[in-house]
Amino acid sequence: MNAIAHNRIEVMHGVNLDQLGRRDPAHYGEDDLPALERQIDAWAQAMGLSVRFFQTNHEGEFVEHLHALPDLADAVVLNPGAWTHYSWAIHDALELVHLPAVEVHLSAVNEREEWRRVSVVADLCLASFSGQGPDGYRAALELLARELGE
Ligand code: DQA
Repeated sequence: MNAIAHNRIEVMHGVNLDQLGRRDPAHYGEDDLPALERQIDAWAQAMGLSVRFFQTNHEGEFVEHLHALPDLADAVVLNPGAWTHYSWAIHDALELVHLPAVEVHLSAVNEREEWRRVSVVADLCLASFSGQGPDGYRAALELLARELGE
């Protein structure tokens, strides 16, 4: 039995994150997405959380998955990739979901190009972790485990 009653975390990856392993390792590391997801799953299990994963390169699919989330999950960890910086459609979809959300970026978005410093989802998230590589997801899970355990 899990220690936390409401423990379903949806981990959502957006555009180009299926290409991890081929992207610049200086920013994104060497892991491909399945390896990253295995790592996240192991951390989640150790915290008594249950994770499901979703990735798409289609903005409308990302939006529709957010619409469906209240029936699927108790909280969401999202890395929308480049959509983070301009997709008000994703902002509005996340807003109507009313679930605890945490934003994660593998790379240090605030230390890269100017346009990456803007996040249109940050105001809807409990926290944003960036520049920590995969450890950012562990920090997000820890935060949500505390949030859901209360
Ligand atoms: C990213 C950062 C974004 O700026 C970029 O477009 C991505 C990945 C990250 O995880 O560091 O695709 O979200």
